Parts: sequence; structure tokens; C-alpha cells
Amino acid sequence: MAEILAAGKAMERALALLEGGDVVAIPTETVYGLAGDATNGIGVARIFEAKGRPRFNPLIAHVADLAMAERIAHFDPLSRKLAGAFWPGPLTLVLPQRAGNGIHPLVTAGLDTIALRMPKGFGGELIARLGHPLAAPSANSSGRISATTAEAVAADLGDRIRLVVDGGATPVGLESTIVKVEGESVRLLRPGGIAAAEIEAVAGKPLLRGAAAGIEAPGMLASHYAPGAAMRLNARQIASGEALLAFGGSRAEGWQDAAALRNLSETGDVREAAANLFAYMQDLDRSGATTIAVEPIPFDGLGEAINDRLSRAAAPRDKTG
Ligand code: TXA
Ligand code: MG
Repeated sequence: MAEILAAGKAMERALALLEGGDVVAIPTETVYGLAGDATNGIGVARIFEAKGRPRFNPLIAHVADLAMAERIAHFDPLSRKLAGAFWPGPLTLVLPQRAGNGIHPLVTAGLDTIALRMPKGFGGELIARLGHPLAAPSANSSGRISATTAEAVAADLGDRIRLVVDGGATPVGLESTIVKVEGESVRLLRPGGIAAAEIEAVAGKPLLRGAAAGIEAPGMLASHYAPGAAMRLNARQIASGEALLAFGGSRAEGWQDAAALRNLSETGDVREAAANLFAYMQDLDRSGATTIAVEPIPFDGLGEAINDRLSRAAAPRDKTG
């Protein structure tokens, strides 16, 4: 079983594992990441192995600072402006790679672009100490719910990895927002921990949405984040025996008969709901109910990302996420 070490005590052990080409689960402000040295093919391969993830899905490379990012990729002025506004933080930029940047091709699945982000906290410090970027997808088995606590990581991947660094519950609770600058425009590739409107305010223009033709878009595989139970969205009425994922102050009809209940935010705050989403889905999944009914959640702010994750969790299941 993986060892769980508090972030304040884990730095040397994490470094030793990464330097040896092994993987480490680390806290970030969004969700826990399963990190390997992005320049070490063995380390990157172990990420895919531990997650059981198909190899064609490229990973995000995490950097310690802008200088490291600029050695890896070419920044245009708009990308630099977005990095300046949101880094460190839950924004991932897809950028053209620099030749000879040392990134193992398994990280980018052979693409000539790379997804980069600068995380807050333990991860940033770890990357600075290692001196190499870390490839880190969410620390969960392929297609399962992303982990927002060290315990959730250990329960899912504990028999496949050596170390989980415990930084407590992740504050944002959703993966980063992924965007790509295309000329004068910015395309939203995956809604996430920064609301689209915040990015639009900095970019000074509305975001383009949907994948550009021919691009394998991030997290666009329909079934992703799936719990074992079936998911039923926009539920206004609860059937007896269903678990209920609630939102806000008024309950769906029949809620008293729900097998289990979690409220993402009593006050209807989408930020609080985002932080609770994955942990509460897991709680309800563990209740043994065969279906999780989800009350309607507004699309404003982080509500867009919450609804995105919920619709993936509800989609017909595959094993490719
Ligand atoms: O918050 C996060 O972003 C978390 C934490 C651990 O940092 N990481 C995360 O990584 O969610 P992952 O691997 O689960 O999601 C990465 C997404 C994938 O859906 C992938 O398709 C997309 O990023 N991606 C990676 N490189 C890309 C590229 N060059 N072009 C387009 N999409 C890319
Ligand atoms: Mg993931």
C-alpha cells in the first residue's frame, strides 16, 4: 500500500521517487495529481500504467515558474497575458512546443503542442526542487472520479503507487480550465476551476467554444469521471432508493426517500459546490445506491464546469478517459 505523508514531511521522499523514475501522488489547488518527471519516459509510462489510461490522451506538464514554461513552449502575447493573470492557479494553456525542450513525447502523445500549467503549493515547490516539469493527470484510475483528498487517492491507486503526499482537501475541487490561443482568439477546450467569464475579462473578448476541427480535445471523451452508480441529471423528483446529490436550499420532490443525500452547497454557491463535487459523488457511490439523482445546477461561473463533469459522469460508459 502507498505511504501517506503530510506535505510538510514529504518533500525529500517525493524527490527521491521522482528522481528514480517513479510516480508520486501530489496535492494541487484543483485535484490531486499523479506526477512523474515529464522528461523521463519511464516515469511518464508509469503514470499511464498506474491509471490504466490509454496512451493517446496527452498529459498536462506542470511548471514551477514562467521561465521554465518559456523553455518548454512558445508564448504569444495573449498567452503570456493569461499566464500573468492566472498563474499560479487553475488555468492550463495549450502552446506550441519548443524544439529540444526535453519533454518526453509520451507526455504530449506526439503532438507539437503542449498543455502547461503552474500549480500552487506543494507541487510548485516540488517542481522547483526537481528542476524538471512534472507530467500530472488527475490521480484516479482511468474513467473514475478525480480525487480531492489523499484518502481518495489511496483508496483508488494505493496498491499501484508508493507515495501519496497529503495536503488536505483540494480547495478548488475541479480540474483546471484549459484554453488555447488561436491567433487573436482564445478557445475554451475544457471548462474548469477558473470560470470562463474571468478569462474573458482578461482576454477582453468572448471565448470560442468546442473543439477546433480535427483536434482531440481535452477530457472530451464522453464518459469520464464516472462513479459505479448510474447518474440521472436535472432530477426534480427522486425515486425511492436513489441517492440524491442536492444543490441549494430547496429539495427535489421525494427527497425524504433518498437512500443517501449530500448537498453540494446549501446556500447555492457554485464555488463551494465545485469543491465538494467529486468527494460527494464518491460518498453517494459508496452508499450502494444504483442511481445517483442530481438536482439542477446553474451554469453560471464554475457551474459550467460542474455541469460538464456531471454530464460526462452520466454518459454511456467507456474505458478511455
Ligand atoms: O487541474 C488539472 O488540470 C489536473 C491537476 C492534476 O493539475 N490535471 C488534469 O490532467 O486534469 P489530465 O491529464 O487529467 O487532463 C489533461 C487534459 C486531457 O484531457 C488532455 O486531452 C488535455 O489536457 N491535453 C493535454 N495536452 C493537450 C494538447 N497538447 N492539446 C489539447 N489538449 C491537451
Ligand atoms: Mg482526469
